[in-house]
Amino acid sequence: MLTTYQNKKVLLAVTGGIAAYKVTELVRQLVKGGAIVRVMMTPTAEDFVSQRTLAILSQNPVLTEADWQAASAAVDHVAWARWADLLVLVPLTANTMAKLAQGLADNVLTTTTLASPAVKLAVPAMNDVMWASPAVQRNAALLQADGVHLLGPAEGFLAEGYAGKGRLVPLEQIMTTIGQLLAEEDRSARAADQLPDLPDLSGRQVVITAGGTREAIDPVRYLTNRSSGKMGYALANAAAIAGAKVTLVTTVDRPCDDSVKQVFVETAVEMLAAVETALPTADLFIGAAAVSDFRLAHPAAEKIKKSGPDDGLTLQLVQNPDILRSVAQAKKPGQLIVGFAAETNDPAANAQKKLARKQVDCIVLNDVSQAGIGFNGDDNAVTVFRPGQPAVHFERMKKTALAAALLRVFAQSLDELTADL
Ligand code: PMT
Repeated sequence: MLTTYQNKKVLLAVTGGIAAYKVTELVRQLVKGGAIVRVMMTPTAEDFVSQRTLAILSQNPVLTEADWQAASAAVDHVAWARWADLLVLVPLTANTMAKLAQGLADNVLTTTTLASPAVKLAVPAMNDVMWASPAVQRNAALLQADGVHLLGPAEGFLAEGYAGKGRLVPLEQIMTTIGQLLAEEDRSARAADQLPDLPDLSGRQVVITAGGTREAIDPVRYLTNRSSGKMGYALANAAAIAGAKVTLVTTVDRPCDDSVKQVFVETAVEMLAAVETALPTADLFIGAAAVSDFRLAHPAAEKIKKSGPDDGLTLQLVQNPDILRSVAQAKKPGQLIVGFAAETNDPAANAQKKLARKQVDCIVLNDVSQAGIGFNGDDNAVTVFRPGQPAVHFERMKKTALAAALLRVFAQSLDELTADL
């Protein structure tokens, strides 16, 4: 399932029309949907809705003209412009529409919009006669010709006290359009990142694990780690786009290709069971998850409380199953088994040891002592170890691009393996 808004960066550009008050509800719905929302506004917009309200609802600072003018060195509008996945001009007045159609940059909102490479959605709202005027129609057409998506305005009761075409379209329609544009953006970003050099994996079945397992301490607390699942999802998406039938056993829910079969689990024991179910028909297994080596011997049935100020707590842990090792032990001829290793000290030696100890065909080492490598970030740098072959290093790059590069290595190993059968 594609979670359309999850972790997407949406920049709302609010201009000075009465419909600006409706943006508060839009912000709430986007945040509820999992989007990361920032708002910037023109001075006139501040007459209709307060900076404070939008900051509280968006859980982020709001960029206003005054902030920008007062601290232009500190508030970097170009960084805001580049940050966004989608920029939504809502409501868009005739005045700001005219400025944008002409490429004017005379305030923080128009300057940031002009500097933004993000996909743009304009949701105009204004007086009906204004909307119908030739000048506004010309400007709307110019914006569309520049690639801006236009939504509305709608027919209905206007602030003027009569019905006409000029209303902001209903919020559900704005939410749906935002979701569609984010999904399209996601697809084209994935295609641009991964399609060029992907191996052909059609006819192959791939099982991948992603995310950090969660081991319950009590009904509200658990042991886990810093894995975001990004590396596993990048591999699953790349493999799916390369034509493979992909099963992703995951502890997290991130956007991914519609064809990927996601199996959601929490614990190492559940992950092992899901992997064992999917494995018999797989050609390739990739263990990108960070699996907890330990779980609680006896998770508490009720929330653990402290009874005194000096209370400590001792947790008794037992070992979890080693999924990668059991997959390698059950390996059938023609299957390629790949593990990851996140190491902080003596990385190469430890990765080599893991290769031998877990009896896998390949270990992908992330040296997580280096800043920005491995857990949680969008980038990674890895070295691939295979028995009897020289190590192959991949410099730091986006996890999406790295996934494609790794799949090329795995596809070649898989071809060599099956050629011997
Ligand atoms: O999810 P991201 O934020 O994108 O980060 C990516 C990552 C750093 C988590 C990923 O690239 C990675 O390195 N995953 C393995 C992390 C790890 O904890 O490695 P390990 O050294 O503990 O385990 C080695 C291998 O054995 C891994 O393939 C792991 O999935 C597997 N394992 C470990 C323990 C266990 N009980 N069962 C396992 O199958």
